[in-house]
Amino acid sequence: MPSATSLDVTAIRKDFPILAQQVHGEPLIYLDNAATSQKPKCVIEALTRFYQMDNANIHRGVHQLSERSTQSYEAARGKVQRFLNAANSREIIFVRGATEGINLVAQTYGRTHVSAGDEIVISAMEHHSNIVPWQMLCEEKGAVLRVIPINDRGELEFDQFEKLLNHRTRLVAVSHVSNALGTINPVREIVNTAHSWNVPVLIDGAQAVPHMKVDVRNLDCDFYVFSSHKVFGPTGIGVLYGREQLLEDMPPYQGGGDMISSVTFEKTTYNDLPYKFEAGTPNIAGVIGLGAAIDYLDQIGMDAVAAHEHDLLEYGTRALESISGLRLIGTAREKAGVLSFVIDGVHPHDAGTILDREGVAVRAGHHCAQPVMDRFGVSATTRASLAFYNTREDIDALVAGIQKVKEVFTV
Ligand code: ALA
Repeated sequence: MPSATSLDVTAIRKDFPILAQQVHGEPLIYLDNAATSQKPKCVIEALTRFYQMDNANIHRGVHQLSERSTQSYEAARGKVQRFLNAANSREIIFVRGATEGINLVAQTYGRTHVSAGDEIVISAMEHHSNIVPWQMLCEEKGAVLRVIPINDRGELEFDQFEKLLNHRTRLVAVSHVSNALGTINPVREIVNTAHSWNVPVLIDGAQAVPHMKVDVRNLDCDFYVFSSHKVFGPTGIGVLYGREQLLEDMPPYQGGGDMISSVTFEKTTYNDLPYKFEAGTPNIAGVIGLGAAIDYLDQIGMDAVAAHEHDLLEYGTRALESISGLRLIGTAREKAGVLSFVIDGVHPHDAGTILDREGVAVRAGHHCAQPVMDRFGVSATTRASLAFYNTREDIDALVAGIQKVKEVFTV
């Protein structure tokens, strides 16, 4: 039985050709979805079709291929808008990934709104991509980075967050779901609280969009970023959602073609949204591939995805908790997609290597979240991360692999 939920995972897995292979003579069990997810055939075909049939630059040509290419690119923007329930497509900016989206906000909104002595609030569970851009901004401006602490389960200490806000706070930037712990943060409440101080909120949704329905208007957030490759689309493309008025008031991020309205040596005027933030030829194929991934997810339904993964997470949590000498890192009451753990006497990288020999692909390391590792007193964890094409059998294979690890180390 693939799971206790209604998703037809056996049929879904046929859409992902990469999953039907063996590694080291064992069937591939892909549990590294938080690092990057696999691509359904429709995404691969959309990329091939674009390069075989439509490849041309966008917004520039008068010819048929350019018109088709532009039409597909802008159609994908509409798909992203509906996927996030943004108010309109001018609020959807294509960037290289969540990391670039955060850097864009730091370098445009941040540089114009943050001065010496101002404060930016992040959390102790952020990925480096939601720490370092703010540190760089604070260093440049003489501003102060404030960090919301987390408890032993890996949950935000909300009362501490409330205490951090004050009249010097200029922005709150938090993850929707932690990549290292799986914690789902109460982002709606975070936004409400920050807005009561008139402070805008950026949400890093890289680990949320593959697992649940995201509605930026319901969240009422000001910025939301995610990466295509984690949501079953191609690498090298991602999305920044921004509230229209904020984006209008922000200066451009990069200068170049397509982001201008007119250029003379004396003065340049900038293009309208969203093009003001899309300088140069973008990753056209990537955007079209992302659009295909969203179409695919729409067919499956994010509620069905969330229910299936919730079942797997509970099943996996029970199974891992019953293994002696194994400690789960990240036991938040609200969690998505991640089983991060350490085993007594075993380095996480060794566990990852032995699991790989069993065909089980996981990530081992600090997961670009070194402060999280410090908080839990470990240098690294082994992390299994889920997608909707995973099954209870995949979890069973992980558990069997962990038993092998323990045999090797006789713990
Ligand atoms: N941020 C990605 C991860 O968590 C790469 O693995």
